[in-house]
Amino acid sequence: MKRLLFFTLLLIVTPLIAAQTESNKQMIKFIDSLMGRMTLEEKIGQLNLGGVGNPKVVGSAIGLDEAIKNGYVSAVGGFDINAAVDAQRFAVENSRLGIPLIIGLDVIHGYHTIFPIPLASSCSWNIPLIEKSARIAAQEAAAYGINWTFSPMVDICRDSRWGRIAEGSGEDPYLGSLIGQAMIRGYQGENLSDSTTIMACVKHFALYGASEAGRDYNTVSMDPVTMYNYYLPPYKAAFDEGAGSGMTSFNVVNGVPATGNKWLLTDLLRKEWHYEGFMVSDASSVAEMADHGMGDVQEIAELAINAGLDMDMSSSLFVLCLKEAVKNKKVTEAQINESCKRVLIAKYKLGLFQDPYRYVNNEELKTKVLSDNNCDVARQLAAESIVLLKNSDNYLPLNTNQKIAVVGPLGNVKGSLLGTWSYGFSENRMNTIYEALQEILAGKGEATYSKGANFTEDYCIYDGQYTLPTESLIKQALIDVKDADIIIATVGEPSSWSGEARSRVNPALPECQKEMLRELKKLDKPIVLAILSGRPLILTDEDRDFSTIVMAWHGGTMAAEALSDVLFGVTNPSGKTTTTFPRHLGQIPIYYNSLNTGRPYSDFWATTKYIDCSNEPLYPFGYGLSYNNYIYDKPILNKYIAYGDNDSIKISIDITNSGVYLGQEIVQLYIGDPVASISRPIKELKAFKKIELLPGETKTVDFHLKVDLFKYYNECLKYDWDEGGFDIFIGPNSKDVQTSKIIWKKHDKI
Ligand code: BGC
Repeated sequence: MKRLLFFTLLLIVTPLIAAQTESNKQMIKFIDSLMGRMTLEEKIGQLNLGGVGNPKVVGSAIGLDEAIKNGYVSAVGGFDINAAVDAQRFAVENSRLGIPLIIGLDVIHGYHTIFPIPLASSCSWNIPLIEKSARIAAQEAAAYGINWTFSPMVDICRDSRWGRIAEGSGEDPYLGSLIGQAMIRGYQGENLSDSTTIMACVKHFALYGASEAGRDYNTVSMDPVTMYNYYLPPYKAAFDEGAGSGMTSFNVVNGVPATGNKWLLTDLLRKEWHYEGFMVSDASSVAEMADHGMGDVQEIAELAINAGLDMDMSSSLFVLCLKEAVKNKKVTEAQINESCKRVLIAKYKLGLFQDPYRYVNNEELKTKVLSDNNCDVARQLAAESIVLLKNSDNYLPLNTNQKIAVVGPLGNVKGSLLGTWSYGFSENRMNTIYEALQEILAGKGEATYSKGANFTEDYCIYDGQYTLPTESLIKQALIDVKDADIIIATVGEPSSWSGEARSRVNPALPECQKEMLRELKKLDKPIVLAILSGRPLILTDEDRDFSTIVMAWHGGTMAAEALSDVLFGVTNPSGKTTTTFPRHLGQIPIYYNSLNTGRPYSDFWATTKYIDCSNEPLYPFGYGLSYNNYIYDKPILNKYIAYGDNDSIKISIDITNSGVYLGQEIVQLYIGDPVASISRPIKELKAFKKIELLPGETKTVDFHLKVDLFKYYNECLKYDWDEGGFDIFIGPNSKDVQTSKIIWKKHDKI
């Protein structure tokens, strides 16, 4: 039977492989013939990304049209998509060889339909839904001529001061890898040349999320074991998934800027990981190597290309310096050819040589942008991203027969709910939180709105208008909420406080918003805190003073509806944190998969405990409540000893929904490796399942453990595992787990 299956499979697969090999041969033949007709300048031009309207690009210096005409521009990464589309036509019609451009943009959480920021989406732990959101993002972007997105960002981050934490999937390499891969599948689909798919760009290679003190672009310094075990895996997973391109990071890696780092771009990426796509620099990061102290413009351009960088984004230094470098034998023509070939292969795979306008004439696709279906997916993802942090008075879910007072700077705004990098959004399709609540309460309850506080300073200009000082806003709010049954305090950060160059020294609620909360609390009315932000905030005061806290992040186009769905129990919250929430600024960086110390015990005077604060986070990784309680039974192992590489152990656990609502629960499995050749984290996430349970329903969740789960990079950076005992932790978050012990031996059972 097995043989029959094997031969049947062989019969199916062989012609497929043959067809693929044939089309690969055709591609290479086409590209070789094209390159045979290209001058050295034209080949170098293929290594240049000029931003539309970017003052640093060669295109602007001599005029973009002229640069394109001369074959100096390979790709445009502009914010003005109409200009980019015109540039495409110009390139095809006016450059000597008519080589089409790649048109890129940061479509990182949707294009017209904006999905929650990636950090929020990661809290859904819903991999298929995230993939679907990326699929929609690709379709909408492709409809407007974009064929390349600078996403996913898979930088692991343990520091909520860093504004770009919003753009990634949090602190865990396993979850981060799955999400990065799902986004790539979503963007690129089965066939990159389909006019509804776009090329992904994995960024920022590498370690960008570990910038010191959370300050953007700052130094990174990291030991190799940490790098290999925690920070590199999501990049590798994303490259392995077949992402068409990758982007370097601004920071140094082992002291050398990533953009000119040969070890990173050649030894690791090409030789160890066998990645074949092309690598683009981050914006101006080639030029910025001068400030890193790597030499003059000629030297840094040479450094970058010799390190293995294929395309220069908006420094223009490849175009300006590489011809000279070849002449002076600092760079070989072979090196230029290799990079040029990678870029042309990407263009070929995108189908641009067959039809350079395939992403430009998508009139039919345009009609589907911001469709009801797309908004429904955005609403579901936004609702599943919301994390219920606290509900100890059971104020939630709300009922619709109440008078609800919405108070706070985020309660009646739109753009501030979207999150960073939201380009094609349309506020017309959005509601404010106040409007969404009015809609659900219509004919039953009532909603009022008062601003209550500015985002920050007392007097400020916001959205072009002067706002009143906080004191007056609070005074008014206290009057407005007098008749309310319940207050929903919408506090946090506007979209512009997270993302690139948006580090905060104290990622907490600003004092004026805290002041508003203190005054509202004095009224002794039920209060629900709805926190909207692009990063995990330090919520220690709020956790102490309030019984009900909902973390709603920046949820995109449907942020308001999604929040309303959760508040009224239309969607039972199921999101779980993907970053550890600190209780104090001084704890940062704080993360769950840390090592033990030699003095972990609290009864010993010289522990690693702070003398003025607990070591514990406010909310651990993987944490989030529901309107139900889920009861975790005892985990059951089918055996507790396994042997060799091919064995497996099944661990099962019954989960019961003891509540009255339909709900989803994310069941998490962590491992611990208490004795190993290097010190290993106390816990590491290795598997999870998101299950749906009816009221009263019990489901058995099975996990199949394989030896691969126990592998790690050891001191010699060999990926291996140690035989012996392992801890298997299962629970609703990284803290509240039940522990089972197993043994795994290297040799086969005798
Ligand atoms: C950012 C990248 C982004 C690029 C292009 C840079 O400043 O670091 O993440 O893709 O700009 O917009």
